[in-house]
Amino acid sequence: MNLFLTGATGFLGGKLIKNLLLDKQNEVFMLVRNVEKAEDLRDSFPSADQRRIHIFQGDITYPMGGLSLEDIEWLTNKIDAVYHLAALVKFDLDLRDELFAANYDGTKNILGLAAKLQAKSFYYVSTAYTVGTLTHGVEELYPEDGEFNNPYEESKVKSEHLVFSYRDQMDVSIFRPAIIVGDSKTGEADSQFTLYGFMRALAVFKRKTARRSGGTRTYRLVAAKNGTSNLVPVDYVADILSKAPQKAAADKIYHITNPNPPTNSELLHLLKEALDFQNLSVVEHTNEKLDEEEVRLNSLVDVFKVYLAGNLSFDDRNTQDLIRGTGVAHLNMTDDMIGMIIRAGYKTKEVI
Ligand SMILES: NC(=O)c1ccc[n+]([C@@H]2O[C@H](COP(=O)([O-])OP(=O)(O)OC[C@H]3O[C@@H](n4cnc5c(N)ncnc54)[C@H](OP(=O)(O)O)[C@@H]3O)[C@@H](O)[C@H]2O)c1
Repeated sequence: MNLFLTGATGFLGGKLIKNLLLDKQNEVFMLVRNVEKAEDLRDSFPSADQRRIHIFQGDITYPMGGLSLEDIEWLTNKIDAVYHLAALVKFDLDLRDELFAANYDGTKNILGLAAKLQAKSFYYVSTAYTVGTLTHGVEELYPEDGEFNNPYEESKVKSEHLVFSYRDQMDVSIFRPAIIVGDSKTGEADSQFTLYGFMRALAVFKRKTARRSGGTRTYRLVAAKNGTSNLVPVDYVADILSKAPQKAAADKIYHITNPNPPTNSELLHLLKEALDFQNLSVVEHTNEKLDEEEVRLNSLVDVFKVYLAGNLSFDDRNTQDLIRGTGVAHLNMTDDMIGMIIRAGYKTKEVI
């Protein structure tokens, strides 16, 4: 198959491309804005695989992804499926314009490109957090005027509607991962964002305050203790995405979520252990007054805290149907696995 990818140089994309190349019939065409980074990625594969990787310089924020007319002509009628992963994955409220430019306009441009190339299928990687402020996620489109925690979620919901508006021109399917973390076997994670941004912020805070207070006092982090953190290993997400050409149905939405996620208490306990930050305590949303340093701690990790705020559940029946008979097992993320992923995350990033 000829598979066209955006976001191949990212955390998930790097893993997905490895999977896609396992099938020796596949050729991979990637639209990247940083050719050097893409060449490094290509060079990391054996030379026989390198010949099946084709790099195109572009930018999703430009019409047709910024591809030249010659590239577009050359690619037309060649592409079986487009995987659109490229996005800005940040939860800051003040990044609305950047988020909409990358995520919404970017998706519109890549849909336009896919239609022009006469691609047969379009796989859009969205997020389980299109659920916004609802507490149960369903594998259906949410209303565009729902309530969202941040412009990232809103940009993804609006993009999903755009994707479905192309259903007459090609087969479209949407994949919604929850919080993507390291590999389930090695813990490896090439990411600075989401959980890894949170871990880094905690590590920086610990380092700074340990110097000042000698590590003697306790700091309170406000989070819903019995809320859950829906973590999914990157290889599980990539395994499911790579089955899409064979198994995804048109017009379907797939949750790539954790059916048995850890509670925030469990997750924060593992983070504390891995960071050796014993004087971090977790308090529920109360009227307890936080002191200045605690306010700083809570604001440092603020953008991630919406994902520690509640108890969400996600229906993933479409995904269970998709993986049936493929050899991909339904996710069973044990405490040991989560602990290993967190320890590996701290080690490889040297955030301590
Ligand atoms: N990470 C998570 O926890 C998570 C959870 C749910 C859903 N998702 C979704 O999964 C997808 C992949 O996420 P990720 O974690 O792999 O993100 P990532 O590591 O930040 O990678 C983002 C990718 O998008 C590319 N990109 C960004 N802006 C671009 C532009 N203007 N033109 C061309 N390429 C551009 C980046 O290119 P450069 O390498 O040049 O920066 C990179 O390849 C995203 O759609 C995200 O919303 C992620």
